[in-house]
Amino acid sequence: MAPQSAVSVRNVSKKYNDVEALRDLSLEFPRGQLTSLLGPSGCGKTTLLKIIAGLIPANSGEVEVNGIRVEGPGPDRAFVFQDFALLPWANVMRNVGFGLELRGIAKSEREAIAEKYISNVGLAGFERSFPHELSGGMRQRVGLARALAVDAQVLLLDEPFSAVDEQNRRKFQEDMLTLVQEERKTFIFVTHSIEEAVYVSDQIAVLLPRPSRVSEVIRPTSFRNKDAANIRRDPEYLDIVDRIWASLRNYVE
Ligand SMILES: Nc1ncnc2c1ncn2[C@@H]1O[C@H](COP(=O)(O)OP(=O)(O)OP(=O)(O)O)[C@@H](O)[C@H]1O
Ligand SMILES: [Mg+2]
Repeated sequence: MAPQSAVSVRNVSKKYNDVEALRDLSLEFPRGQLTSLLGPSGCGKTTLLKIIAGLIPANSGEVEVNGIRVEGPGPDRAFVFQDFALLPWANVMRNVGFGLELRGIAKSEREAIAEKYISNVGLAGFERSFPHELSGGMRQRVGLARALAVDAQVLLLDEPFSAVDEQNRRKFQEDMLTLVQEERKTFIFVTHSIEEAVYVSDQIAVLLPRPSRVSEVIRPTSFRNKDAANIRRDPEYLDIVDRIWASLRNYVE
């Protein structure tokens, strides 16, 4: 039996003027697990995350988080944007603690929490650096730490590793597996990389081109509890990567 859903998306449709982004899309996101959204560019992945975050409304359908209908943003959800959205005038410590600052948490407490997540995402020693002094990948890590620091139950991650090189990306992916296990949060993760999605996910939703719906949901079974280093050699891992590529290649121009 699939675990209980933290987020339910039911029959959601979204149009921007003439562009029909999502049509009757339904998907369940199991609690405490990581679900990846994979699909052609422009199919509506960011749109779906924004609707779940409550940043934009759907035209029809509904989204529930823990059984409560989403009407707008809330502290139960945190968003890591595709383009980082860090405060350029604030150092890493302040950026990571910013969500807590907005909630009126005292400086010493928020710095202790920020410190923990700065270290968890591999940025210890950079607390006093400013965004312009960091690489693109490091900035994305700051965004991730900020989302983790506010202790939201649901984390919405829009291509959090797109700005990093292959070696760092693999390190991030390993870190993600640890984070999902340790944090026990529900991760909704958008990526363009099939390998990355299969490597980090408990569940992969493959989306169709615009107007987007879910084409299939895949739940890997054999390698999920394996040592991170062995996943990429697992036969089921290789099969799933091939199968997703076979279905997505039709949409590559
Ligand atoms: N604010 C907006 N106004 C008008 N059209 C929009 C807006 N935001 C997105 N769109 C359109 O909706 C469609 C889906 O966009 P979205 O950003 O959700 O795609 P995506 O799957 O995240 O793409 P990518 O993989 O390139 O990030 C696109 O055709 C885009 O042009
Ligand atoms: Mg996008």
